[in-house]
Amino acid sequence: MIKIVDLHKSFGKQKVLKGVNLEIHKGEITAIIGRSGSGKTVLVKHIVGLLKPNKGHIFVDGTDITRAGAKELKKVRRRFGMLFQEAALFDFMTVGENIAFPLREHTKLSEREINQIVKEKLKLVGLPNIENKMPSELSGGMKKRVGLARAIVLEPEILIYDEPTTGLDPVTSASIYELILEMESRLKITSIIISHDVPTIFAVADKVAVLSQGQIAICDESQKVFQSDNPEIQNFLTAQIKRFHGKLSQFWTQGISG
Ligand SMILES: Nc1ncnc2c1ncn2[C@@H]1O[C@H](COP(=O)(O)OP(=O)(O)O)[C@@H](O)[C@H]1O
Ligand SMILES: [Mg+2]
Repeated sequence: MIKIVDLHKSFGKQKVLKGVNLEIHKGEITAIIGRSGSGKTVLVKHIVGLLKPNKGHIFVDGTDITRAGAKELKKVRRRFGMLFQEAALFDFMTVGENIAFPLREHTKLSEREINQIVKEKLKLVGLPNIENKMPSELSGGMKKRVGLARAIVLEPEILIYDEPTTGLDPVTSASIYELILEMESRLKITSIIISHDVPTIFAVADKVAVLSQGQIAICDESQKVFQSDNPEIQNFLTAQIKRFHGKLSQFWTQGISG
């Protein structure tokens, strides 16, 4: 569905992507993991056409979006939904207005139709009847869910989640992953998830791609990546698992003491 070929991107002298090759298959969940600052966000911004590469191609069902004109790009972009790291809700709008925003921008639906879709999407993410609340009244996990409702409002075929659980506790994180799996099975959405949540992400993803030194070091079934004998990948995974255990024990300690 998406094929990335020899993608290069530099900012000034800093080479971030140095020949990325990656294929994303329809209906699968592909996780992109890698150290902080390795270029994961930069890579997905290319996939949705927010950044232009210095070199290379990105084919979405055969259309090279790095060469596409504005009109063609707009058409391809509508097929993507993106949930950014900070959920990025407009804090001056109600939850309902936030979710309705892409519908008002991209469709000519009536207010009645828009309200109905907003209700339906909020129900889907497990937050029925909160359309009149302001984002400031919501917890971190609820904000992510509202961000997800907004990301799926135009019924995208491909959903990109950039660190959907960063800043959330382990229990809330697990509920977000459940929701991601539900999106995949109920809406048949192709998903790309950037995440640090080793080992959870290996249970959720069909394929795991490791971005390292500007290239995809490995992309394979999650089990194969987990068992890879590449020492750099093993070091990274071990460090992330330690981090996860740290987070978990901190959560339980805080839970017991307070
Ligand atoms: N618009 C930009 N201008 C200059 N440098 C950038 C820009 N976007 C990202 N970078 C740099 O590219 C590198 C990779 O960033 P990023 O993709 O955000 O990493 P991560 O893997 O943590 O998502 C970082 O060193 C970052 O500072
Ligand atoms: Mg990032």
